[in-house]
Amino acid sequence: MQKMTSTFLLIGHLILLIPLFSAEECVICDYFVLVGEPTAISCPIITLPVLHSDYNLTWYKNSTATPVTTERDARIHQQEGLLWFIPAMLEDSGPYECHVRSLNHSNKKTINLTVFKNDNGLCFNGKMKFEQKVMSTNTGKIICPDLEHFKDEDNNQPEVHWYKECKPGFLEDKRLLLAEGENAVLIHNVSLEDRGNYTCRMVYTYMGKQYNVSRTISLEVKEGPLQMRPEFIYPKNNTIEVELGSHVVMECNVSSGINGLIPFWQVNDEDVDSFDSTYREQFYEEVMPRGLAVSGTKFNISEVKVKDYAHKFFCHFIYGSEQFTAYIKLERPAWNMQGYLIGGGVSLVFLVFFTLFIYKIFKIDIVLWYRDSCHRFLCKKVSDGKIYDAYILYPKNRASCLYSSDIFALKILPEVLERQCGYNLFIFGRDDLPGEAVASIADEKIRQSRRVIIVLVPEPSCYSILEDVSEKQLAMYNALIQDGIKVILIELEKIQDYATMPESIKYIKQKHGAIRWKGDFSERSLSASTRFWKKVRYRMPSRKSGSSSGLHLLPKDFNSP
Ligand SMILES: *[C@@H]1O[C@H](CO)[C@@H](O)[C@H](O)[C@H]1NC(C)=O
Ligand SMILES: *[C@@H]1O[C@H](CO)[C@@H](O)[C@H](O)[C@H]1NC(C)=O
Ligand SMILES: *[C@@H]1O[C@H](CO)[C@@H](O)[C@H](O)[C@H]1NC(C)=O
Ligand SMILES: *[C@@H]1O[C@H](CO)[C@@H](O)[C@H](O)[C@H]1NC(C)=O
Ligand SMILES: *[C@@H]1O[C@H](CO)[C@@H](O)[C@H](O)[C@H]1NC(C)=O
Ligand SMILES: *[C@@H]1O[C@H](CO)[C@@H](O)[C@H](O)[C@H]1NC(C)=O
Ligand SMILES: *[C@@H]1O[C@H](CO)[C@@H](O)[C@H](O)[C@H]1NC(C)=O
Ligand SMILES: *[C@@H]1O[C@H](CO)[C@@H](O)[C@H](O)[C@H]1NC(C)=O
Ligand SMILES: *[C@@H]1O[C@H](CO)[C@@H](O)[C@H](O)[C@H]1NC(C)=O
Ligand SMILES: *[C@@H]1O[C@H](CO)[C@@H](O)[C@H](O)[C@H]1NC(C)=O
Repeated sequence: MQKMTSTFLLIGHLILLIPLFSAEECVICDYFVLVGEPTAISCPIITLPVLHSDYNLTWYKNSTATPVTTERDARIHQQEGLLWFIPAMLEDSGPYECHVRSLNHSNKKTINLTVFKNDNGLCFNGKMKFEQKVMSTNTGKIICPDLEHFKDEDNNQPEVHWYKECKPGFLEDKRLLLAEGENAVLIHNVSLEDRGNYTCRMVYTYMGKQYNVSRTISLEVKEGPLQMRPEFIYPKNNTIEVELGSHVVMECNVSSGINGLIPFWQVNDEDVDSFDSTYREQFYEEVMPRGLAVSGTKFNISEVKVKDYAHKFFCHFIYGSEQFTAYIKLERPAWNMQGYLIGGGVSLVFLVFFTLFIYKIFKIDIVLWYRDSCHRFLCKKVSDGKIYDAYILYPKNRASCLYSSDIFALKILPEVLERQCGYNLFIFGRDDLPGEAVASIADEKIRQSRRVIIVLVPEPSCYSILEDVSEKQLAMYNALIQDGIKVILIELEKIQDYATMPESIKYIKQKHGAIRWKGDFSERSLSASTRFWKKVRYRMPSRKSGSSSGLHLLPKDFNSP
């Protein structure tokens, strides 16, 4: 079949290209015709039926000496170089020879004619088809071949009728069009469904008789270049994470079946170079196999700025009357987990240390503030049954001494702790009644106190500590060991040597330290908000709401200025 096709195609080409006598001929010159239909065969070595030229062409049947007749009403005859069968019969199959003679040249060629019958139930013979190809998605053409010798008396081409798989009507598909004057059918937007067996047929009238002239074409659809609708390869409405200040190439690729698509970038409803003059777009295009093309545009963001995170970058292209859009959005990278953990851990440790540090520095103020607010908002405390907030123990000084422990204990302490802070103190020498037994009073009063404040002075010689040592020691013993009463040591002056002090005082000093009085007797030193007094207040119990202002206390012999 392929051979026959090539024969016909070859003839078609020779008509245009090859001069009168040609060495290029069909090798196996196969012709075929449906039984009962007419056919006209041209000699393959003659490429043009040149009437005026000085050569004689003669057809012979099967190398007999007698040429085929030129009688026009004979069923088989030759005329103007053509061998006619009107119509062909099955027995006409076989070889025919054409002889060409000119003055000093001679040539001959044998052709083979096959007269065939249609396949059962079909309007064609499956082995006798012309093969034609069209490309999908393109516009294709089916040509009804070798009809050029079949003209009516007015030299007009009779009408050609078309059938697909022997059925008419397929031309109703709007994609299919009869090509006027071409014996062809145009197919727009060829698809695979257009494959098939097309039969074209016309009615030829010769000597008053009508004959069918039909050809069958097997149409093959080759996959043509994809005439695809352009689409974005990238971006895909996606987000990318980029660090501030980093370099990004913003690329937009569009794939399409056509060249010349021009994508372009926009951001914030303006061109990117208006948005930032350093964003210079660069257009590029790459032609791919099968007629595909990738069109692209890109620009560099050499340093990502904060404003770049604020907008979507849109890539557009226009195809037909439509605008297509895809965007890309820049985002700051999410916190990287490791960094977060390390950073968080360090921060946490730092925070803890900082908090401890702050607490250490402001511990006293914080506690005092807390007590104060607690007092203000009336945090109720269960009564512990004690009367005094502190029992004051101090050495009675002799007249000649520098240290005024009397003044401190009898005037300054009450002024600050009682008058300003609202504590209730028991001060020996102020609150005891004359004649009471010192030891028994001390014992009882300490039990009724929440704290014991011991005022210390550096020079034992200056004071008659011994005067009431046993009393003190007894009291302290009770306080420290039995009742767990807290003891506050106040040094009126720096004490270098605790060696001479009683054991219990050494013990307290070692365990809880002592508070040193640095003030004088000025008014400033008498303010409860000085450091010294804050320290003392810190060690003092928090005031009971009930015992705060003037219930038990009130200085008895110290009247404030
Ligand atoms: C054709 O010629 C061959 C010999 O060349 C002969 O055997 C054959 O019978 C001939 N056929 C016809 C149809 O004349
Ligand atoms: C062609 O044939 C005719 C008659 O048969 C003859 O007169 C003529 O000379 C021939 N021409 C050539 C070129 O052979
Ligand atoms: C015939 O041959 C001669 C020389 O051999 C040549 O000059 C002449 O052109 C030829 N004629 C044709 C018609 O080919
Ligand atoms: C002619 O064609 C027929 C059928 O196609 C084939 O059987 C035969 O061998 C051919 N003859 C020649 C000489 O090519
Ligand atoms: C064309 O005809 C052949 C028989 O010759 C058949 O096998 C084939 O299926 C037909 N093609 C289509 C597309 O119907
Ligand atoms: C061919 O396809 C294109 C695009 O798919 C369409 O616009 C056009 O109308 C089609 N042509 C015909 C004749 O159907
Ligand atoms: C032409 O072919 C058609 C369909 O096969 C048939 O109906 C019609 O009779 C034929 N015409 C002639 C003149 O053979
Ligand atoms: C865009 O197309 C160009 C050229 O084909 C290619 O080099 C580049 O990698 C593509 N970029 C993306 C993001 O697809
Ligand atoms: C973008 O930056 C690259 C280097 O990273 C450079 O090669 C390229 O030329 C730049 N393109 C444009 C359009 O500035
Ligand atoms: C991408 O976004 C554009 C504009 O917002 C929208 O027109 C388009 O349909 C989106 N494309 C996809 C694939 O979601």
